[in-house]
Amino acid sequence: MIPTGFVQDLLSRVDIVEVVGRQVELKKSGANHMGLCPFHGEKSPSFSVSASKQFYHCFGCGAHGDAIRFLMENSGMSFRDAVGDLAQQVGMTVPEGPIDAAEQQRALQARAHQATLSEVLERAAGFYQRQLKGHPVAIDYLKRRGLSGQIAQRFGLGFSPPGWRSLASAFARYDDPLLAESGMVIVQGEDGPEQKRYDRFRERIMFPIRSVKGEVIGFGGRVLDSGEPKYLNSPETPVFVKGRELYGLFEARTALRTKGYALVVEGYMDVVALAQHGLPNAVATLGTACTAEHIQKLFRFTDSVVFSFDGDAAGRRAATRALEAALPHASDTRSLRFLFLPPQHDPDSYVREHGAAGFDDALKQAVPMSLQLLDHARSGCDLGSAEGRARMLATAKPLWSLLPDSGTLKRQLLGELAALAQLQPGDLAQLWGLASTGPGPQATPHKPARRSWAAPLRRQRHLPIGPADQALRMLLQRSEWWERLDAEDHELLHRLPDPYGALCGWLERQLHEHGAQPWHTLQALLAEQPFGEVALRLMGTMAVDDVVGFDDLRTVLNLLWRQHLSLRSEALAALGLADPQARQELADVLQRLRALSAQAAPKS
Ligand code: UTP
Ligand code: MN
Repeated sequence: MIPTGFVQDLLSRVDIVEVVGRQVELKKSGANHMGLCPFHGEKSPSFSVSASKQFYHCFGCGAHGDAIRFLMENSGMSFRDAVGDLAQQVGMTVPEGPIDAAEQQRALQARAHQATLSEVLERAAGFYQRQLKGHPVAIDYLKRRGLSGQIAQRFGLGFSPPGWRSLASAFARYDDPLLAESGMVIVQGEDGPEQKRYDRFRERIMFPIRSVKGEVIGFGGRVLDSGEPKYLNSPETPVFVKGRELYGLFEARTALRTKGYALVVEGYMDVVALAQHGLPNAVATLGTACTAEHIQKLFRFTDSVVFSFDGDAAGRRAATRALEAALPHASDTRSLRFLFLPPQHDPDSYVREHGAAGFDDALKQAVPMSLQLLDHARSGCDLGSAEGRARMLATAKPLWSLLPDSGTLKRQLLGELAALAQLQPGDLAQLWGLASTGPGPQATPHKPARRSWAAPLRRQRHLPIGPADQALRMLLQRSEWWERLDAEDHELLHRLPDPYGALCGWLERQLHEHGAQPWHTLQALLAEQPFGEVALRLMGTMAVDDVVGFDDLRTVLNLLWRQHLSLRSEALAALGLADPQARQELADVLQRLRALSAQAAPKS
């Protein structure tokens, strides 16, 4: 615990105008400073910072707080990190309880050193940015790639000139050890007259990589034409840890809030091009796989993340890495989806060809994480044979195990995997040792529910993943919608595994006997049903007052149909293509699948 007295002391020494001013452009206006609010998108300033009160306040969205709050909200820092950061700026030491003084001293020194490295990188970035203006080849290159001067400015794009020691003109001492340590200058050979020093980045478009606080921490540099390597990156340094940082996060942070989701792409150019075309909420990993830390960082800004991968084999592999990184952080309130672009495209080329609207359309096809896991597990497995199903389970288990035990997702997926494997959910639960964490909605439906399940759960903002749950939830809430579905849809719903199938049967009987009834009436009646507790629990995990429309039900049914048909297609393929009837049905099924994918309705 950091003592309150210390925090007060700290806040009295920092200047909020300075803290905010590093991240938001502020202009003095009367007693206050004004700027564009970073917490909601706006064109005219309604964000004010008061030096006398040491508070910020937005008249547009109501965001307000002190300097610590600002760092937490705007840079996604924890309270402790925000306090530590501010303390370092004013030369105070955070009392750390049991940690000894020497260690505190070292931490302080490390931070000061990091700040110096950042200054060096900042200066280099400024130099590259100025060089861009004097090199028409570089400007032409960016123009050819469809970027405006404004976007180049926003991302601080620059150009490293062709010479071996261009940075010498930007720094007082070219042999400053900080230049080497920050990765800007390469030192070759032992100390002495033979030693050579030269710029790491030469004749490249420079993409400065910033921390969430906006400090330059490294660079990516792209060759102008063809040449190897296409991208050169700064080495890891005390300020630049690739598994932790995301390109574009600083620039995207306001858009993450206004758009409501983050788009994770593979390339720097993708991020910049997406911003150019009106999708400023994209970030990229730094030429490395997506890590759990990346995901955690993003979840500080938004509850919804869409990964976009190139449609090739490398993209598929990257998706699997991302899936592994994401699973431990999945929860019922967070949404993680996967978007695969056509093989010839990356987000940059796609958005340039189809525009933001086209990209938004593609986003609607993004696959929820649960489906991605199922798809990955069964790819290459012949589900028509026991061996194939066993192999599918073997692939799925390590991924499934990564899911947190809390929440319903883990159990729902277990149910879906069991269905795919043609096992009883209870058997699979036992096999995989889920029983010890308590029975799940599908795992052991006949055991009496624990009390906590019946109790209303915390309000949750997003639909949990699992289309069967979503469909049932909507139908129980708006039972009149049942009649708007056609016979085929009814059939599909009736055939869902229990308790879903049983619930549908019950609901249909209710409708025939009593007509549509509000949820609270159904709720009372359900309590007496054998599957009632399971159903109530299912509803309990969801926010019953969420606004949903019939279109949402259609979207979910579309997903259910696609699941159903892809299972059917696996079964038909397993029958062998020698059977002409199976072949014909398979062709029909595949065609329907394509049609369903094409008309998949908006999801977020
Ligand atoms: P891509 O080659 O897919 O990049 O690499 P891109 O963004 O589509 O490049 P353009 O459109 O040709 O400019 C994706 C990411 O992989 C890393 C970089 O981070 C790059 O943004 N990468 C790629 C490297 O680090 N080194 C390389 O040689 C290539
Ligand atoms: Mn590209």
